[in-house]
This record gives sequence, C-alpha cells and structure tokens, in this order.
Amino acid sequence: MAKKPATVHTVKALRNRVANWHKAGKKVAMVPTMGALHSGHLALVEEAQRKADHVVVSIFVNPTQFAPSEDFARYPRTLKEDTKKLSALETDLVYAPDIEEMYPAGFCTKVMLGGPAEDLESVARPHFFGGVATVVSKLLLQCGPDIAVFGEKDFQQLLVVRTMARDLDIPCVIHGMPTIREDDGLAMSSRNTYLSAEHRDVAPVLYRALIDTAIHIREGSSIAWALREARSRLSISGFKVDYFEARHAENLSPIHSLGDGPIRLLAAAWLGKTRLIDNIPV
Ligand code: PAJ
Repeated sequence: MAKKPATVHTVKALRNRVANWHKAGKKVAMVPTMGALHSGHLALVEEAQRKADHVVVSIFVNPTQFAPSEDFARYPRTLKEDTKKLSALETDLVYAPDIEEMYPAGFCTKVMLGGPAEDLESVARPHFFGGVATVVSKLLLQCGPDIAVFGEKDFQQLLVVRTMARDLDIPCVIHGMPTIREDDGLAMSSRNTYLSAEHRDVAPVLYRALIDTAIHIREGSSIAWALREARSRLSISGFKVDYFEARHAENLSPIHSLGDGPIRLLAAAWLGKTRLIDNIPV
C-alpha cells in the first residue's frame, strides 16, 4: 500500500525529523534531486532504502548551477507527481525548500573546487560544479545523513561530490549507483523530454558509440584512434560533440593506454538544443 511521504520545507523541520531517527539509533540516507523524477532517480531511492533505515529525498531546482543562458526557467517542476512516485516506494521524507530557505538574503559563500571538477563539463559550463558543490554541501549539512546516493549518470559530479565531502570532512558516505537506461540504451534524464521525436530516435547513438569505443580499446586499438572514430560517428549522426574522452576512473586525469589504470569514457553532445551526457567504464 502506498504511503504518502511527509514533506518538509525548512531546515529546522528537516533537522527535527533526522534527529529523532538518529536518537532511535536509525541510519539515514539522502538522495538529492532537482525533481522531475524518473526511474533513474527512483532506483537511487531504492538503493538508499537498502542501505539505510530512513530515506530523505530532496527536491530543489538549484539556480546557482544554471548559467543565465541555460534552462532554469523551463526546467520541469512536478512536485505533486514526484511525491506520488515517492509514495509508491514508501519514501519517508521529502525535503522541498524554496529558494529563500536555501539562499536567504545576504547569502554569499561558495565552495571552490579543483581536481575532478576541472575540465570536461567545466569547459562548457564553468559555473556548474561551483553551484552543485555549494548546494550539495548545504543539503548534506542541513540533513546530516549517514550516506548520500548519487548517480553514475553524472559521473564527474559523483567524483566532485565525493572529493568535496572528503576534503571538507563532511561525515557522510557518498555512494554511487549505476546509470538506469531506456530499452534502447539512452540514459534516463529529466532533460530527455526536450528532445524532438527525430532527435529522440538518434539519441541512443551516444551510448552505442561509448560501447563500441570501449570494445575497440579492450581489443587493443589506440585510445586516440577510438576516440576520433567515436567523435566523427557522432558528428555524422547529427550530434555536436562537446567532448568524448577517456579518463582515469578515480580522478578523471588523462589516460593514454589500457595499462594506465581503470578507464571511464565520458561524453557530452548536443542534439539540436538539448545537451546529452553519458559515460561508461571500459
Ligand atoms: P538531478 O539531475 O535531478 O539528478 C539527481 C540524481 O539522480 C543525481 O545523483 C543523478 O546522477 C541521478 N540520476 C539522474 N539520472 C539518472 C539515471 N538515468 N540513472 C541513475 N541515476 C541518475 O544531479 C542533480 O539533480 C543536481 O546536480 C543535484 C545533485 C541534485 C544538485 O542540485
């Protein structure tokens, strides 16, 4: 039977709930989201439920991680439908702060990043990880979960958050969850709804290019050649490629051969006005 989760909108109410669970000796997990929940998000919630006694899902479309030219205004906001989906999973608590609760007048602090935040996503979106790190550090400090679950779909984000939590001594385990995909391989994303029917048909080529590149590299092709092949295949299919790279899976440093360490392939490419990102291990 579906049980509607309680929803709180303030840091104070959130802290009260979590303090009660901790007082009772329970383990608490958090799943930060921007809402418009799909099966990828819900898989994170189910993973969180396996790892902890109580799960808090935050829903907050974070303005500081969008550049003025980006889709903050049109980003889907579907709190009612999201709460319904979370009811079916019997999620304990939804935390849905408004912008003033998260960024009250006078707010002026930012988290500054290095390491895995440099390069890749940061080239096209230099504002992005600063905004993500600031809001995620706030969410973790507001809630105080024992564990927080993030998707490998945003692999660079996962490493940035894990590094930040370690460096700032935030006492929370950052747990990664593999990407959930549509039947044709397209990684689920709230932004897939922006794709036209024509672009939706082409979109899975991004995943297939990642898979074929991983196969070429495993079979001994040069990494540089395999990446060039993938970029040109995507261009021919109608993508505008931001990057298609092979990086060290633990710190995203450049990698030149199979022996250099565990490899992650990471890509971002535009189809029309929609930017898709994806990644896989080799
Ligand atoms: P959002 O895009 O809503 O994603 C919330 C979480 O769901 C992230 O950890 C993301 O990696 C994960 N996720 C999204 N699609 C997924 C998929 N197909 N399979 C598995 N996991 C998936 O990422 C953000 O929000 C924001 O940047 C946030 C961390 C909430 C900070 O504002």
